Amino acid sequence: MITDEIKKLIDIAAEKIHGASHVVALVGAGMSAESGIPTYRGSGGIWTKIGEPDPRSFQNFMNDPKLWWERMLNPDLVNEESPERAKFTKALAEAKPNPGHFALVELEKMGKLDTIITQNVDGLHRIAGNNNVAEIHGNRNYYRCLDCSSRFLRDEFTIIDIPPKCPNCQGMIKGDGVMFGEPIPSDVLARCITATQNCDAMLVLGTSGTVYPAASFPTEAYMNGAYIVEINPERTPISDIVTTQIAGATGDILPLLVEKIREMG
Ligand code: OAD
Repeated sequence: MITDEIKKLIDIAAEKIHGASHVVALVGAGMSAESGIPTYRGSGGIWTKIGEPDPRSFQNFMNDPKLWWERMLNPDLVNEESPERAKFTKALAEAKPNPGHFALVELEKMGKLDTIITQNVDGLHRIAGNNNVAEIHGNRNYYRCLDCSSRFLRDEFTIIDIPPKCPNCQGMIKGDGVMFGEPIPSDVLARCITATQNCDAMLVLGTSGTVYPAASFPTEAYMNGAYIVEINPERTPISDIVTTQIAGATGDILPLLVEKIREMG
């Protein structure tokens, strides 16, 4: 339900975004909730149901990459072990972009959105049509070389050995999704930092603001004088520094916000 109060907040945010020169969107799992993908935390969150992954997940991979790949290539086994995880994986595989994603495509086309920094691994921003997307936690549709950072579409990658080797440099290949305990790939981290430092407005969309380094970007932008608007049905640790907090779903609010910005010409 879009109340008069929310309409007023949308007007304020639209004016600020319209007047900004470099706008960045920091996105979290709430953005894809309306595409049918459960969030991680809160009621219904996948970590709430099955617990957070082992913080040494990346170390475990490095210790025995062959075991990880054998499990990766045998999803039925993994699905049997954890039906909740299986439901999550199915939701990810079947998800389509929602009106919130398409609103960000419009904003980029209007020249009012420099970069999306997304924590989501679902790839839905790219599928929707955004071009400038920094996937800070990777993209489940890709593999990545740990040595040279080349990315390969899973569907087009031929696996000969396990673990597979990078066709470009013979380095170790893993899923592009960033594991617990894994450093953020330096190329994407550099893009995120540059975008954050250069922005004068940041949209904070559907993230609990609890996972670093992404959670630090709004504070950094705020300290640099950027305008911060948060769209989330719940308050988060970031809410304390935002200028405009719009309590609602991104799939409802973003299309209205982008329409307002368009009307301003
Ligand atoms: P969380 O699950 O921690 O938080 C989701 C946020 O979305 C919460 O603040 C909700 O209130 C909000 N939300 C729910 N539905 C929404 C909607 N329709 N519109 C807008 N907001 C909504 O997800 P993230 O903050 O993305 O990392 O979590 C960050 C990282 O933690 C993830 O990328 C993942 C996880 O561990 C990795 O897997 C590496």
